[in-house]
Amino acid sequence: MADRIQIVRHRDLLPFWGVKRATEPGFMRSLITWMGGPEGYINTNIEHVVESQHCAVGVMDMAVGNRQPGVHVHTMNEIYVILDGQVESIDGVGNKHIAGPLDCLFIPTGVPHGVRTVGDQDVKLLWINDDLEKWGAAVYLEGPDPAPAENEISLIEMKDLESRWSNSAVPGEMHWNVNWVAGRETDHNSDVAVPSDRISLELCVVQPANRIREPVRDGNQLFVVAKGQAVAKIDQDTVVLDRQDAIFFPIGTSIDLRCISDEPLALVKIVELSS
Ligand SMILES: [Fe+2]
Repeated sequence: MADRIQIVRHRDLLPFWGVKRATEPGFMRSLITWMGGPEGYINTNIEHVVESQHCAVGVMDMAVGNRQPGVHVHTMNEIYVILDGQVESIDGVGNKHIAGPLDCLFIPTGVPHGVRTVGDQDVKLLWINDDLEKWGAAVYLEGPDPAPAENEISLIEMKDLESRWSNSAVPGEMHWNVNWVAGRETDHNSDVAVPSDRISLELCVVQPANRIREPVRDGNQLFVVAKGQAVAKIDQDTVVLDRQDAIFFPIGTSIDLRCISDEPLALVKIVELSS
């Protein structure tokens, strides 16, 4: 398991086209992974990722006009955050949600689910599994039969998440957060966010010319750059992070991330509460 600050570069992650029917027109989609389990578990870039015993994080790219086949079922909670484009989410009994940029779909364990692109923009969808799953354990169901479940998919819309400015919101360190999924210590939106004792999932936005500096206490943290450009200060080194690069901070280290773009730096932050 990773015990040091680690950077995963988007440019090093070869897209994986091996999921169910992913190379057929109408179903075309590819995955990359920044954080995932050891050999045998969902992890499409095992040579580059941050290894975790708790969760997996990556992106699915799906061009306009494609969809996941049928519905499928996982052994863990799966969470989608839309970065680009718009999707329609379906379950096994006809419930539908429309999710656009920075909206989140929370799919509880065992709930059949699938998405298709909506509109004229390619979809980039961040996926987070709140536990490890072995390759092949997901079950795909296709055909007209209903696939009922005991639970339901939740849509957490960005418009319902009120930004919370950090206590340290002084000039130079101005940033705000919202929670889609809320852990023990980091619930910025307790009225809307889905509670979890396994992970916290946040959007953290740092203003231009400002930075985040804080120690890592609650659990290992992975930041994925969704927009803008960051500089990470690691000991005496400075490292530039671009869109879809990720940086991992284990407990006991310190975060120092600075926005160097003209637009705000938007980071998706995943905290492993069980780490
Ligand atoms: Fe899934």
